[in-house]
Amino acid sequence: MADHSTVPVDRLDALRAEQELARLAAEIAGHDRAYHGADLPTITDAAYDALRQRNDAIERRFPQLVRADSPSARVGSTPSAGFAKVQHRQAMLSLQNAFEASDVEGFVDSVKSFLDREFSVPEPPELALVAEPKIDGLSISLTYEQGRFKRAATRGDGAEGEDVTANLLTLKSDLPRTLSDAPDVIEIRGEVYMTREDFLALNEQMVAAGEKPLANPRNGAAGALRQLDPEVTARRPLRLFAYALGHTSAPIADTQFGILARLRSWGFSVNPLAERCATTAAALDHYQRIGNQRSALPYEIDGVVYKVDRLDWQDRLGFVARSPRWAIAHKFPAEQARTRLKAISIQVGRTGALTPVAELEPIGVGGVLVARATLHNEDEVARKDVRVGDLVVVQRAGDVIPQVVEPVLAERPADAQPFVFPTTCPACGSVAVRDEDEAVRRCTGGLICPAQNVERLKHFVSRDAFDIEGLGQQSIERFFADGLIRSPADLFRLQPGDLRGRE
Ligand code: IVH
Repeated sequence: MADHSTVPVDRLDALRAEQELARLAAEIAGHDRAYHGADLPTITDAAYDALRQRNDAIERRFPQLVRADSPSARVGSTPSAGFAKVQHRQAMLSLQNAFEASDVEGFVDSVKSFLDREFSVPEPPELALVAEPKIDGLSISLTYEQGRFKRAATRGDGAEGEDVTANLLTLKSDLPRTLSDAPDVIEIRGEVYMTREDFLALNEQMVAAGEKPLANPRNGAAGALRQLDPEVTARRPLRLFAYALGHTSAPIADTQFGILARLRSWGFSVNPLAERCATTAAALDHYQRIGNQRSALPYEIDGVVYKVDRLDWQDRLGFVARSPRWAIAHKFPAEQARTRLKAISIQVGRTGALTPVAELEPIGVGGVLVARATLHNEDEVARKDVRVGDLVVVQRAGDVIPQVVEPVLAERPADAQPFVFPTTCPACGSVAVRDEDEAVRRCTGGLICPAQNVERLKHFVSRDAFDIEGLGQQSIERFFADGLIRSPADLFRLQPGDLRGRE
C-alpha cells in the first residue's frame, strides 16, 4: 500500500484517507500491544500521541470512513486471543431448583435424613436456613491473596473460568480492593448484574446507534462482562452482590449468615433482603415477602436461594453431581400482568411467514415495559380465542419474548369479534398459503414483497451473516423506505452523499 504518512490531513482525498486510517489502526494497535502486553514501549509517548491525533483529524474530515476497529473507539490494548483461563480453587456449581413449597419441604427433609444417616446427627425438629434473593446475573469468583484483590473469573465450565479481572476493576463500588484481617487466600463468590435503570439507558444508546436492543438486564451484564476491552465495560455499569465463599485458607465464620456479615464488613454489597430463618415455614414466608417486592426492586431476581445456615453441616452435606446438597433455588413463577389488546398485527418474516403480534396498552411486567407480545401463529390465536378489545394476561419469563397467556373471559367486551387470520399478505397483497403439514401461513410474493425484502436485508447485515457493524435494523428500514437500498448489492453502491444527515 502506498505510504501517505507525510501527506497533511487537509490534502488527503477519500481513497488515500481510507488507506491512511487502515495504516494508523494497525500501527497504533501494534504499539498498544507492545506497551500493555510486553512492557516494552516501541515509540516515545509524544510520537504515539501524534499518531492518535492524526487518526482523529482524518476521522473528523471523513466521518464515513471511521473503521470498526478505530483506535479512537478504544483505549489500551485488547488481548488478542480472548480471555486467559483461570482454574477455580473450588469448583463453581449450580443449584437444584424448587418450584413449589412442597419441593422445599422435601429438600429440608432430605438434608436432615442425610445428616442423620451419614453422620449420626440426630434429626433436629427444625433446620435454620438463610433465605436470600436469587440475583439474575452472572456468577463470579473473586480471589484475594494477602488481603489484596488478585483476580476475577467467570464460572466457565465450573472448574475453569475466564479471567475478567480488568473488567471487574471498572466497578465503581461493590468491589473492595483490599480486605482487612482476611485469610491468606480466599475466593469470594457473587453475582455480577446490571440494574434495570442502567439496562434501559444502555438499550436506548444501542437503539440510537442502530443496533438491536437487548432482551433483558442479564444479557446487558453478560455483554459488558465479556467485553475484551475494559473501556467498553466501563461505559456499561456493572454491579455486584457477594453471597458465598469458594476456597478459603482459614474459616471466617461458623454460619452462612456470619459469612454475609463478614463480607459486609469488608465493604462488599450484600443483599439487604438476606434473612436467617429458624424454620422452614419462616423461610417460605420470606419467599413470599421477597416475591411481593420483586417488581419494585431496582434489579431482576428470579427466585430465592435457601442455604443451610450451619457451615459444619454444609461441609458434611457436600455435593451431588453439579450442585451442593445444602442449598436450593426456589424459583418464582413467570411475571404476569393484565392489559388491553388494542390490535393484532401481522408481521411478515424473511421467508414470508406471517406471525400474529399482540399490540398492547403498554404495561410494566417485572420492571420492563411491554407494548407488544407474540401470539405465535394462526392456530394459537384460534386456540386461545383472543379478540381485539380483550383484557389479556401477558407474561415474561427469563429470556423469552413476552407472550399472551389468555384472555380474561369475564371481562370480554360484548362486541368483541373472533380474529380472522388474513389469507393475503398485509405488505404486498399476494396470496398467503398454508401447507397442510405446516403451522405457519406464508406470503407467496417472494421478491415483490417489500416486507420480505426488508427482512432479507436486515438478515444480510446482521451478526449471523455479513455482520455490518453500525448498520442496524432501523437504519435498514429507513434506507429501504427512502429507496436507497433495495437489494444487498445496493449497500455497496451507497455514496457518501447518501449518508449525509443520517445517524
Ligand atoms: S449460592 C454452590 N446465592 O444462581 C452454589 N447463588 O442457579 C453457590 N445465584 O450459579 C451459589 N443469586 O450464579 C447463590 N444469592 C445467591 C445467588 C446465586 C444468584 C446464581 C449463581 C449460581 C446460580 C445457580
